[in-house]
Amino acid sequence: MRVVVLLFLTLMTLSASPSAYDQGKKLYFSKGCNGCHGVSAEGTNLYPPLAFRRKAFLVYKLTRLRAKQGDTQLSQMMIPFAMGLSDAQIDALTTFLSDYHEHSKEHYSPDNSMTGGGSS
Ligand code: HEC
Repeated sequence: MRVVVLLFLTLMTLSASPSAYDQGKKLYFSKGCNGCHGVSAEGTNLYPPLAFRRKAFLVYKLTRLRAKQGDTQLSQMMIPFAMGLSDAQIDALTTFLSDYHEHSKEHYSPDNSMTGGGSS
């Protein structure tokens, strides 16, 4: 864990200080979040969409999941991925997801959250 934090800090200082958004984007793929939540964080019928969700909500959920507090049976799948995250990583990931602007085309509106997948 300490190594990860050090690496994070080193990366922050060395490279031309990548934004939290870019850090979050890298983490999203390096941690394998895309494997379930999709390359565009759009979710599927099984996995909730993450892009465009409110940052406070995402932080709340990830912090709870990290503490092994899930509300559904499906959350058991998510807990191992949340457990390895530091506060800084949660911050970067949720910045990336809430500010999501990878593609110019429209995806989902923030209020259209729980249904995921299906269309487009
Ligand atoms: C093995 C599949 C899987 C992977 C990999 C995964 N998740 Fe999840 N995630 C889930 C499932 C399933 C849920 C829904 C849990 C529930 O119903 O409470 C979830 C829920 C979430 C939520 C809460 C969203 C909501 O609407 O309740 C967030 C935020 C989240 N994941 C972020 C991430 C991040 C960030 C990563 C990468 C570090 C990640 N997930 C990796 C399966 C996964």
